[in-house]
Amino acid sequence: MSNVEWRNELLENAEYLCSGTASEVYTSTAKKGTKGSTRVYVVKVQDLSGKRPPHDAKRGFKILSELRHPNIDVIEDAFMDKFGSLCIVSAYKRFTLSSCQSQLSYEAKLKVSMDIASALDYLYENEIIHRDIHPNNVLLDSLDGPAILTDFSTAWSYNCKGQEKQGLITQIGTGHYKPVETLFGYQYYYCEVDWWAFGILVAELFSQTDLFDDGSREGWPSELKLINSIFKTLGTPNPNIWPALATFPDWNKFVFTKYHGKHWEDILPNVSEDIQLLVSTMVKYTGRGIPSSVREHLEQLLIEHKKTVK
Ligand SMILES: Nc1ncnc2c1ncn2[C@@H]1O[C@H](COP(=O)(O)OP(=O)(O)OP(=O)(O)O)[C@@H](O)[C@H]1O
Ligand SMILES: [Mg+2]
Repeated sequence: MSNVEWRNELLENAEYLCSGTASEVYTSTAKKGTKGSTRVYVVKVQDLSGKRPPHDAKRGFKILSELRHPNIDVIEDAFMDKFGSLCIVSAYKRFTLSSCQSQLSYEAKLKVSMDIASALDYLYENEIIHRDIHPNNVLLDSLDGPAILTDFSTAWSYNCKGQEKQGLITQIGTGHYKPVETLFGYQYYYCEVDWWAFGILVAELFSQTDLFDDGSREGWPSELKLINSIFKTLGTPNPNIWPALATFPDWNKFVFTKYHGKHWEDILPNVSEDIQLLVSTMVKYTGRGIPSSVREHLEQLLIEHKKTVK
């Protein structure tokens, strides 16, 4: 624990777990004899000095601390370390969705997707945009779930806008999960950016292959490469099929190759028609399916699946 800078009177045995864009994450246990001493905790240490928008640790903390939902992470404790970093304590979960998705059964994948849809539905009801939906921000205690959404450090809410009072920041999301409209500088997005990323997550959960390619795997991520991959897959949009496109600040800066787009049975050949249909309601330019209806659709698939395995 020599390189651990924070101290807390209730926690001991801190061990470094990983680093993020603006944070370091440690595991720790409660001191013997204190409440919860048999449990393992995670301490996320976020530096508050250098602002790296859209990261806003205080705003993320405030938003998350007010949420109560079975599929959203719970803050167990929070404190400031001696350097002024914000330390958020939560219960340790064994898996991230990315680390375990290849081991999940079809039924577990349906349940995990339902869990995330429930969390997103709750965020929508509460006027909150998560803005970084991807499999590393979904945690699980066991391969049976439940799935827990975490990492609210770039979240935005109507009641807690932070610096983003007019338009919103467009540099949101991670890798190929970045919402397509933000790649063209669109600042007036809402929860549908989360539904786009969620659709990609569901596609990849069931197909076990990346839906889009932003060049990260070759070590050269690029937004132009991601745009090209999206257009090749879904077809190049135009203002006739997506009227808002004409208002995106960067839409007219480039001339894009006109692709027709593929059918979902060719995009996701190794998944059932039901899942292809479900993904197609979210990974689309306009009119993305709201999480409550996605959840109902998944629930139906789960009922049908249970009938077939009986
Ligand atoms: N409660 C937890 N249990 C187990 N592992 C966790 C937990 N919280 C976070 N982690 C691990 O730490 C990683 C980073 O945490 P988190 O996603 O909150 O921050 P980050 O991606 O570094 O975010 P930021 O963009 O704020 O720097 C997660 O992807 C996960 O692997
Ligand atoms: Mg994260």
